[in-house]
Amino acid sequence: MALLVRPDNMERISTPEQAKAYIEEQVRDIQEQVKDKKVLLALSGGVDSSVCAALLIKAIGQNLVCVHVNHGLLRKGEPEQVIKVFKEELGANLIYVDAVDRFLDKLAGVDDPEQKRHIIGAEFIDVFAEEARKLDGIEFLGQGTIWPDILESEAGIKAHHNAGGLPEDLQFELVEPVRILFKDEVRVVGKELGLPDSMVYRQPFPGPGLGVRCVGAITRDRLEAVRESDAILREEFAKAGLEGKVWQYFTVVPDFKSTGITDGKRTFAWPCIIRAINTTDVVEVTVEHLDPALMDHLAMRITTEVPGINRVLYDFTPKPPATVEYE
Ligand code: XMP
Repeated sequence: MALLVRPDNMERISTPEQAKAYIEEQVRDIQEQVKDKKVLLALSGGVDSSVCAALLIKAIGQNLVCVHVNHGLLRKGEPEQVIKVFKEELGANLIYVDAVDRFLDKLAGVDDPEQKRHIIGAEFIDVFAEEARKLDGIEFLGQGTIWPDILESEAGIKAHHNAGGLPEDLQFELVEPVRILFKDEVRVVGKELGLPDSMVYRQPFPGPGLGVRCVGAITRDRLEAVRESDAILREEFAKAGLEGKVWQYFTVVPDFKSTGITDGKRTFAWPCIIRAINTTDVVEVTVEHLDPALMDHLAMRITTEVPGINRVLYDFTPKPPATVEYE
């Protein structure tokens, strides 16, 4: 089957009516392509894979098999949200794989950033392939590829992160129902499909997840400190009306300790670094200047509520010279 190309004269989808028309067209196309066969999809909970899954569920229902791999590097509440939205609300045929120990055991003691990324990527494919082999009758692979992915891989900017990677014995025909959409259009379609705002307007999140924010060799306690501080930051940004306004914000916990004092006793603990940035193209980013009262509040909450943290720092560095992520 020929892969779809975005028509030059295609109108940008921005209204519910346009989204509805797109959904109807895709549902028809998917049904025509897949017929009564089964489709397998790796569902991360990110915008693209979530909208792709919701479209496929609408088109083929239980013949879509979603696999959600929890690699232990997801943000607080994410696996629970995927299960709630897809299994409980949309009735999806969802396989949840708890691979936390598997990933963290493989990553133990590995401090090289490229090696960490490689291990996470390779292990993900292994886990997904193992699940695929347990299933009978799969003929298609659903993918949340979007139009910028195609443009970037054609321009040689980045290897197409979605494409393939599966072993030889698991080569399926692709179903890519959001392939010709830009990100903003994917969000409009997702909203029309009834996905929650927290999923549709989610900030970008790297594939290796919190793993690249737990700088150096990942340990479970420091990883928890990243996850808990990130949850506090997101909660406080939402309360302050910054959700959806600041492009990306997160916390990082580096692998060094400094002295501090709690309840009159000496502590020796990690710092938590806050990064909040704005950008249009992610090639250049600027730093969001936070309200000092919010900074004070974040420092107080994170140091009192997150075990192992005794300092909160703010990253004032634009890109370049710094990248957005720390690894
Ligand atoms: P950097 O650190 O390169 O990040 O300035 C630019 C943007 O890309 C996100 N990022 C990733 N996204 N897989 C992804 O899908 C990845 O491996 C990855 N690494 C970085 C980062 O969060 C930022 O938005």
